[in-house]
Amino acid sequence: MKGVIVTQKQAERFNYYKKIFQKENGSYTPFDRNWKAGDTIRYIELAQTLERIRDYGRDEFYKGKTADRLVKYASEHGAIITKKDLAKYTAQWRKPVKFNYKNATIISMSPPSSGGVCMAEILNAIEPFPVASYGHNTTKYIQLLTEAERRAFADRAYFLGDPDFVKIPIDTLISQEYAQRRMANFSWKKATPSSEISHGKIVDYESMETTHYSIVDQYGNAIAVTTTLNGAYGSKLYVSDGGFFLNNEMDDFSAKPGTPNQFGLVGAEANSIQPGKRMLSSMTPTIITKNGKLYMVLGSPGGSTIITSVAQVFLNVYEFGMTMQQAVDASRFHSQWLPDNINMEPDRFSIQLQDSLKQIGYMTDTCLMPVIGKVDAILRLPNGKLEGGADFRGDDQAIGF
Ligand code: DON
Repeated sequence: MKGVIVTQKQAERFNYYKKIFQKENGSYTPFDRNWKAGDTIRYIELAQTLERIRDYGRDEFYKGKTADRLVKYASEHGAIITKKDLAKYTAQWRKPVKFNYKNATIISMSPPSSGGVCMAEILNAIEPFPVASYGHNTTKYIQLLTEAERRAFADRAYFLGDPDFVKIPIDTLISQEYAQRRMANFSWKKATPSSEISHGKIVDYESMETTHYSIVDQYGNAIAVTTTLNGAYGSKLYVSDGGFFLNNEMDDFSAKPGTPNQFGLVGAEANSIQPGKRMLSSMTPTIITKNGKLYMVLGSPGGSTIITSVAQVFLNVYEFGMTMQQAVDASRFHSQWLPDNINMEPDRFSIQLQDSLKQIGYMTDTCLMPVIGKVDAILRLPNGKLEGGADFRGDDQAIGF
């Protein structure tokens, strides 16, 4: 078993989390030493788990030896998960969210992720405006996107949850007509305070460690995959004889209406905890076509900032003519209704720009989010060649075979 070469960023993270892993797991994890860049880490138990799944299929994870180990470990650490819970779990095929932005067709993740719906709301809201003429990351561009984002995230908090449990008016939410209604009170003169924004009114509505990769093959097939443990190393609890961490995905539920989760997101009844229900996500794995041909594949980790990062990287190419790599590199900002501010990557937005936003009522914060998203994307150029965009914010790479 060859193992994996540890990068500088990984070594720093492993060393930072070492004490927390020890506290949660006591003795053994493969991370339990001092790391430096260039070391090799071997995930022996994980490799054995993957071999068992290869040999015995999905039932090995949900009902077999891996399930035994997971449940035993979790129970010993105070969790209430049982083998029956695991055996009952099935993955679901969902119809993706599909909408148009000008002449691009965007296909993205449907609920229980909020990614596709929120991105549709954001892009629909700005579509009627001459976005490219404002210039990239100017006051006007940031203002317009922020107003679209705050309205989309207010709707996220109210309407979105597991579609098996709540009825979501997706067709309305992702329609151009609805976006126009939501933007009706937008003014260039002054920010709309989030306290004055609620979810939209929809008639007949019955209320009742993330990783992304993008791949295109030589035939033009494309996949966009985002997977998540939620927080860094999930719950930090490591099933040592299975070789994997347990997630802390419960935080993606709205545990208490109005109380923010780790990403500062607030939610309501639609995303409350119930047995068998799936939590709301922000994952936005996305495939975009133009004139029926593949145009772009992209996605990101980053909790709530996934949605706004994916939207900005798409707009950087589509509206501002950047290359795929420039679009990924460009500085990013993020707004999510509550808290009522614009987070900006530090040292990348001038004081003058921030002042001009403050003058019309926007609050900017350049401290809270040192990194906004880590987008990995592929652009299909008009000559059929592929251009990768790998995010320097992580250890990301673009590779062609
Ligand atoms: O599904 C979600 O929205 C979250 N579990 C994503 C968490 C995440 O992106 C953390 N990584 N940076």
